[in-house]
Amino acid sequence: MTDPLHTDLLDLAQEAARRAGALLRDGRPADLAVAATKSSPIDVVTEMDIAAEKLITGLIAEHRPDDGILGEEGAATEGTSGVRWVIDPLDGTVNYLYGLPTWAVSIAAEQDGETVVGVVTAPMRGETFHAVRGCGAWATGAWDGERRLACRPAPPLDQALVSTGFNYVHDVRAHQAEVAQRLIPLLRDIRRGGSAAVDLCDLAAGRLDGYYERGLHPWDLAAGDLIAREAGALTGGRPGERPSGDLALAGSPGVFEPLQRLLEDFGAWHD
Ligand code: IPD
Ligand code: CA
Ligand code: CA
Repeated sequence: MTDPLHTDLLDLAQEAARRAGALLRDGRPADLAVAATKSSPIDVVTEMDIAAEKLITGLIAEHRPDDGILGEEGAATEGTSGVRWVIDPLDGTVNYLYGLPTWAVSIAAEQDGETVVGVVTAPMRGETFHAVRGCGAWATGAWDGERRLACRPAPPLDQALVSTGFNYVHDVRAHQAEVAQRLIPLLRDIRRGGSAAVDLCDLAAGRLDGYYERGLHPWDLAAGDLIAREAGALTGGRPGERPSGDLALAGSPGVFEPLQRLLEDFGAWHD
């Protein structure tokens, strides 16, 4: 039976994601411009990233004022309830800026440091993904109602479709390109979708066999990692470690282990 707290957290996460997704989809200015840059000139923030985070944190504060919040655009409150929200108000900002459809709102709730709820909504795809720890992963689509997610049976690695992403910092991305160059001949192919949260949900939905990236932050990963695990995927970082900024990796059982070994051999976590 689902913990009633988790049900409440899921309801609030879904409502916040729905409202922020609608704001981003319907409120995108035709002349949307870069408002600021962060780790490098190509790491951009738009006014809409900031507006979406404000909407989400406002709603959470209204309903659960004692919770902690960590948001990419600056939200950082400690909280006293043992619950912390980890929010990427717009994952895939570069896609959003260019009018490409792969972007999402990602909201996770942690209880005592463990992610218990994850919601990722991708409005231009008409899809919302969610998971509650121990209760499976689910997708609601505009066309096919609600369905339970399961990652696809693992193919041999040389037939695996694996997604990745490239960091905004020049030297990191140059090294990532070298690693990808070594991996491509060993896989079916590589994808670069532009949203880590959507990549993890696509893995959960059986549309990818694996995903890896270096340089992610907790807000990129928190919700999608739970959704992927609840769909049967394995997730981690370097061997024996949890996903981290060094390396975040996810795959169907059978793809995860050999991919992790290759990434370790190729030194994917450092320059
Ligand atoms: C980015 C996306 C992208 C990944 C980057 C992230 P943002 O998040 O998830 O797919 O490759 O590492 O920073 O900046 O669009 O929120
Ligand atoms: Ca992100
Ligand atoms: Ca973001």
